[in-house]
Amino acid sequence: MQDTPTSDLVSLKSDISAAIAAAKDERALEAVRVAVLGKKGSVSERLKGLGAMSPEERRAAGAELNALRDEVAAALEARRTALAGAALEERLKTETVDVTLPPRPEQVGTVHPVTQVWQEVIAIFADMGFSVAEGPHIETDWYNFGALNMPDEHPARQEMDTFYLKAKPDGSRMVLRTHTSPVQIRTMETTPPPIRVIAPGRTFRSDSDQTHTPMFHQVEGLVIDETTHLGHLKGTLEAFCKAFFELDEVKMRFRPSHFPFTEPSMEVDIGCSWEGGELKIGAGDDWLEILGSGMVHPNVIRAGGLDPDKYQGFAFGMGIDRIAMLKYGMPDIRPFFEADLRWLRHYGFSALAVPTLAEGLSA
Ligand code: DAH
Repeated sequence: MQDTPTSDLVSLKSDISAAIAAAKDERALEAVRVAVLGKKGSVSERLKGLGAMSPEERRAAGAELNALRDEVAAALEARRTALAGAALEERLKTETVDVTLPPRPEQVGTVHPVTQVWQEVIAIFADMGFSVAEGPHIETDWYNFGALNMPDEHPARQEMDTFYLKAKPDGSRMVLRTHTSPVQIRTMETTPPPIRVIAPGRTFRSDSDQTHTPMFHQVEGLVIDETTHLGHLKGTLEAFCKAFFELDEVKMRFRPSHFPFTEPSMEVDIGCSWEGGELKIGAGDDWLEILGSGMVHPNVIRAGGLDPDKYQGFAFGMGIDRIAMLKYGMPDIRPFFEADLRWLRHYGFSALAVPTLAEGLSA
């Protein structure tokens, strides 16, 4: 006697269920899927057989076969999900990391004092709402000088010991930027006020002695809006100095000076003492100059594409290497760039202690 379709399907279904349950991994399960629902699979072959049946037979058998196919597909999917979950669990067991192991800082070297101070400065100004701006090392005469209120033949140009590149066919010469001040102009050109940026970066001058190297680092500051005044400049710089030197009180002196790009201009000194031959920052009867600053000159605001009758603000420029030397007691700038491992190990900082105001700048 021939099996009725129904009893044939019942045993087929139990065989398939057993095969699905027996599949130990996703590959084995895929083999079951192919054997059942693949082109030549047991269920697929039976579905093909429907064509040879009479309409009545086909209606009954078709309904049963389609239901079986859907059930099998659902069972395969459920098993696949379970197997994938189990496989992930297994993998996670072998891939655990012991986070209680101590770090091994000796394998990652030390952070250079310039990088350290660069990050400290960013952390402090970021906390005051400044963002970081950048500009190119190779500048046009306009950005480095002209736009900063230093027209051709301005005496300040000669004081800068500029590195010039070879003249272009039109006679113009690019320069290695002598300061970070060109970033003021580039920022005003691209950022609608209110502007609050610092621009740390490399700068270049043909100069070399105990406190000068041909490549050095500066950080520029620029605030432009409609109301910022000299009091804000003083408050900002005082807050910076306290945070940077990690002192509650810092004696400061704002000394009238001259820069072509600011009016009025001030140089800022910080109180210090040399008692016992050791430099102490923050208090004492001596002074150390740490930066130049002032209210941005109307010509500079205009050169940046803004209306000086509407906008005003302050700027400052500070030597990163210089404040690093002062804070960390390094007497000579030249070893900064000599890549001497003994110096780097002595003056370097832990790569694992990122400067933050919350956890300590130089902890
Ligand atoms: N650019 C000046 C220099 O390199 C430093 C400076 C002074 C920058 C006063 C300023 C400023 O933004 O206001 O010597």
